[in-house]
Amino acid sequence: MVTLAQAATPPLNPVLDATAMSAKLVGRWPSGAPLATAPDADDKKVTNAFDYVDDDDGLKTPRFSHIRKVNPRHGKRDDLATERHRMLRRGIPFGPPLKDAADDGVERGLHFISIISDPVRQFEFVQSNWANNPNFPNGGVPGTPGGQYTPPAPGIPPDGPDPLTGEFDAGQQDSLHQPGGMHVLPLAELVTVSAGEYFFAPSVTALKLLGGKPKALGAASAAPAAADVAPITETPAAAPAADTPNPT
Ligand code: HEM
Repeated sequence: MVTLAQAATPPLNPVLDATAMSAKLVGRWPSGAPLATAPDADDKKVTNAFDYVDDDDGLKTPRFSHIRKVNPRHGKRDDLATERHRMLRRGIPFGPPLKDAADDGVERGLHFISIISDPVRQFEFVQSNWANNPNFPNGGVPGTPGGQYTPPAPGIPPDGPDPLTGEFDAGQQDSLHQPGGMHVLPLAELVTVSAGEYFFAPSVTALKLLGGKPKALGAASAAPAAADVAPITETPAAAPAADTPNPT
């Protein structure tokens, strides 16, 4: 005989309809208004002037919600160093909107584009250390800069991966904290990554320098004299200095 114990999880309290539940996963209502300033209903006031300092437990904006995982905005915690991981983003949706809940088999999704200067410190760090890591942000703070958060104290459930862009390993789930208790959301991956690419986009100034036209930089700017612009040769550059740790 096998006895199966079911983890006790209180029912949703308050009960959330589909719109409110999806807002909990994202951290913003469909209008763009953040749960941080409109926790109970969509007031359609779109703003970026908010943080999570007064919402440690995530009663308004769940700690696992997409916008909180990828930009924790928490000025009180030194370990977060949020500003060092920010990125310019532009999403390009493709495919028609889904009319009913049932999948019609039509391809749809989002081209996620982030414009960054350091892929490791920005995109890769956010994806692996924050979005994928179920222990972020309530787990143990990493001992070394750039390290992974470790599981929280025994008995305290981890927050879980980002429901939009996180990877769910077997058994991982999201912890929704509500006034009526902590409700476990057994989510599977909602988004399938189908491709990814890095593109190098030099600035116009850099292109002009590479093309040997430094004068086109404009008279008023501190453009280097033509003699100062190194010619492009096939000679390998000198070995770079040893990597210094990347503070995060
Ligand atoms: C299918 C994939 C994705 C969807 C549907 C999605 C959706 C969204 C939505 C609806 C928002 C809120 C709008 C806003 O604040 O601008 C948002 C914000 C954001 N997303 Fe995503 N996203 C996706 C992938 C990603 C990925 C892969 C990353 C980074 C690893 C990312 C990073 C961000 C950041 C940094 C914000 C801004 C958070 C803030 O302003 O506080 N997203 N995303």
